[in-house]
Amino acid sequence: MAYRDLRDYLGLLESHGKLRRVKRQVDPSWELSCMARWVYQGFPEDRRFGLLFENVKGSSMSVGTALIGASRDVYALAMGATPEKIHDTWLRALRNPLPPKLVNSGPAHEVVIPKEKVDLTSLPVPTWTPGKDVTPCITACVITRDRDSGVQNIGTYRCQVQSKNQITLNTNPGRQGYQNYESYAARGEAAPVAVAIGCEPAVHLATSAALPKGMDEMHVAGALKGEPIEVVRGKTVDILVPAHAEIVVEGLLHPTGRMVEGGFGEFAGYMGHAAERIWFEVTAITHRRNPIYYGYTSQCPPSESTMIQGQANECVIHWQLIDVFGEQTVTDVAINQTHGGLMGHAVVQMTPLYGGHAKKVGRLVCEMSHIKMVTLVDTGIDVRYQQHLDWVWNSLINPATDVVIIKDACMFFDPSQDAAGRSGKMVLDATHKIGHSYTDLSLPPKHLLWKAYESWQDTDLPAFNIPQRVEHSLDWHARRLERSEKGRFLGLG
Ligand SMILES: Cc1cc2nc3c(=O)[nH]c(=O)nc-3n(C[C@H](O)[C@H](O)[C@H](O)COP(=O)(O)O)c2cc1C
Repeated sequence: MAYRDLRDYLGLLESHGKLRRVKRQVDPSWELSCMARWVYQGFPEDRRFGLLFENVKGSSMSVGTALIGASRDVYALAMGATPEKIHDTWLRALRNPLPPKLVNSGPAHEVVIPKEKVDLTSLPVPTWTPGKDVTPCITACVITRDRDSGVQNIGTYRCQVQSKNQITLNTNPGRQGYQNYESYAARGEAAPVAVAIGCEPAVHLATSAALPKGMDEMHVAGALKGEPIEVVRGKTVDILVPAHAEIVVEGLLHPTGRMVEGGFGEFAGYMGHAAERIWFEVTAITHRRNPIYYGYTSQCPPSESTMIQGQANECVIHWQLIDVFGEQTVTDVAINQTHGGLMGHAVVQMTPLYGGHAKKVGRLVCEMSHIKMVTLVDTGIDVRYQQHLDWVWNSLINPATDVVIIKDACMFFDPSQDAAGRSGKMVLDATHKIGHSYTDLSLPPKHLLWKAYESWQDTDLPAFNIPQRVEHSLDWHARRLERSEKGRFLGLG
């Protein structure tokens, strides 16, 4: 990959015109996050960029945000890939995890602040929904370890700064970080934890993926990066942390204690309520010299967290459909930019092999994830092109037969849920149904369109590139027609 750590990556972003530095002084208690919101509210996705605030009131540290999840283009840069290769890169990494390399020392330990001198209020932690959030909060890579297996987990959890040396983790029994905490707490022991802020982007990318238990995100990060992530042992806890992290907060999770956490602005777009959460006492803060603080712009979509989680989730679902459930004909998955990229609408591209196949895959996605609505489309449809999706919704879905409603699904942060927390899910089969007769596309045939493209070059009309989806769609429809005319659509129709 073209970068070694976060600061190296900033250079890459800048060279692609995707980083803007803010020299003016900004107040982290409201101004910084409100300005970051304008990146998402004021610009269409393809024009968004990361922000580096270089003059933050009350701190000598610069603060970055939207550095990884400003847009799909920026996300691809963080992966060292093009947007078209995001899924291939993820699938390769999930299939070939690369263990980290333990080194004796690293820049993350250049400065060590011992327990008695720890003061979290000295960090430039922004308030992300000013006027509504109870306090500033850190969202970073939270590293924990299973007491028995020794396997580490990294999850992005909200960390509320409760005092100058106490932090609550917004995690619940469904999360692996919580399960690791319990592996110690069940024996009355304090669990080690480290919060890594500003890591090499591959670590952030892997951390936002909901991977199966026992799969260490650090290994997937190494595979995404194409080389092992260098790690060092924590100064006060037995946790391996990224050696090139900008800042690491180490601590011990209290085995029985709870503190009230929240409310904060949530990823689904609404304010969340306060709840009791586990907490830790900070045992040390380590950082690089002149550290850069990195915080995600999360909360109301569109947001950085929605982009990051959506990309990771669509790749993990894609991988699981093929490698776990054997659905070899699935060729793409896209998750729209709502509900944290976690609980929104997924579009799955596949070739159905038998009647009811697409609905089966749609039901699988609903059951294995938090996704609320799944549309199944054929391989010729671009899952990220809204006009294609509107077209198939309007022309290929018969609401009387092609919609599956799943009742009593467990949801969270879904305003449509009932008092018991239940809502519903929906599967929409927008594939061409096997055995049904469909006519040809009302577009000129490919050879004539391509010839006209040549004619176009002979004029002074504005230049353009033929979008891949046009070629793909024309080819796919031609093949579909050929097969159905011969009455052997995949041997079944
Ligand atoms: C910016 C951001 C903030 C997040 N905040 C939380 C959070 O506070 N609590 C939580 O459980 N998940 C949160 N998530 C989602 C988890 O990090 C993600 O689903 C991860 O896969 C969980 O991993 P785990 O199952 O290994 O714990 C957040 C994700 C992002 C990108």
